[in-house]
Amino acid sequence: MTATRAVVLRAAGLPVSMESLTLAEPRAGEVRVRILASGICHSDLHVRDGDWPRPTPIAMGHEGAGVVEAVGPDVRALRVGQPVALSWLVPCGICRSCRAGRPWACPDSPSFRHRMADGATVLATAGGEAILSYCAIGTMAEATVVAEAAAIPLPDGVDPAVAALIGCCVSTGVGAVLKTAEVPAGASVAVIGLGGVGLSCVLGAALAGASPIVAIDRVAAKLDVARSVGATGGLVATDDRATTIEGLRDLTDGGPDFVFEAIGRVATVELAIESLPLGGTAVLVGMTPFEARASFGVYPLVDGSRRILGSNYGFADPATDFPRYARLHLEGRLPIERLIDRRIALDDVESAFDRLRAGDGLRQVIDFG
Ligand SMILES: NC(=O)c1ccc[n+]([C@@H]2O[C@H](COP(=O)([O-])OP(=O)(O)OC[C@H]3O[C@@H](n4cnc5c(N)ncnc54)[C@H](O)[C@@H]3O)[C@@H](O)[C@H]2O)c1
Ligand SMILES: [Zn+2]
Ligand SMILES: [Zn+2]
Repeated sequence: MTATRAVVLRAAGLPVSMESLTLAEPRAGEVRVRILASGICHSDLHVRDGDWPRPTPIAMGHEGAGVVEAVGPDVRALRVGQPVALSWLVPCGICRSCRAGRPWACPDSPSFRHRMADGATVLATAGGEAILSYCAIGTMAEATVVAEAAAIPLPDGVDPAVAALIGCCVSTGVGAVLKTAEVPAGASVAVIGLGGVGLSCVLGAALAGASPIVAIDRVAAKLDVARSVGATGGLVATDDRATTIEGLRDLTDGGPDFVFEAIGRVATVELAIESLPLGGTAVLVGMTPFEARASFGVYPLVDGSRRILGSNYGFADPATDFPRYARLHLEGRLPIERLIDRRIALDDVESAFDRLRAGDGLRQVIDFG
């Protein structure tokens, strides 16, 4: 048994708390990871605020990286000391999506039960109360025990904060562009919402050779960051949808070939679809509360051969995509470090949630160093 401090959500809508817990030893096919960095993703805030019902008590966090500290029996692909980024989706391998080669669409992943595949939990209070681990990785903790398949080996030399972001926002945004939309060089792209996910869409669009790349946010300062990672133009969004669409059409010769919605708001989902030119594609990456519904004109969608795509986890196959994105970063082609604006301590998570809710700043990362 190992001691670890972890950020625990006891009930949605209430502040998270730091708890001192025990962590079980890794069993067959499991590893213990010493967490070095954990990003704060808006999905964590959706859980904290109750937009998405989740079981509690649960150790938070799904965007983490660290080093393997101990391996259970029968672990073959990992060794102690190996740098890893954690995947929040370990596919079941047998459902219809998995058999069709779409692991990112697996609905039966044990990750979504926030337990190991056999139902076991790895965290407990001193009194013996079981604590779930968010997506079966619970990265806002000094250490975690995960399935071997959730710990993806990375090349040496990647800053743990950058590695953590590869675990969620980078794979989600870059993958939405390269894998879901398959944006060709020279296509015009717009990205609505410039948090970690949207800025990663901009990174992906630049890597794909898209042009122009228009970055849109209601916070003007984020446009400069977007330009520093490859955007060629920017637009400050207001609540006046018609003006935003007009500005976007001006900057993209009549509308973007591809538009990425990276917020998860019905109004911007509808804006994205409405801004499309003939043959254009809207890629929905932001996640709304469960019950949200959006509407669009059916006739222009069909008549203009427009498309709407949903993209979960950037169609990631973590075992191949995480090291690929890490190598592109090491080669200077994915400047992921520019997405990070604040490194915080484990007990600062509530104030980080406040900033995220207000739209302040870029990616905040818990630094365990
Ligand atoms: N599809 C997936 O697999 C996946 C994975 C990770 C996160 N997500 C989702 O992606 C979304 C974005 O996550 P994030 O961590 O980047 O969030 P974030 O809060 O850091 O970024 C959202 C950005 O949108 C901007 N914004 C908010 N309202 C706006 C408006 N009306 N017009 C223009 N800009 C506006 C904010 O200023 C902010 O910059 C969340 O819904 C999250 O749950 C989806
Ligand atoms: Zn995330
Ligand atoms: Zn499956």
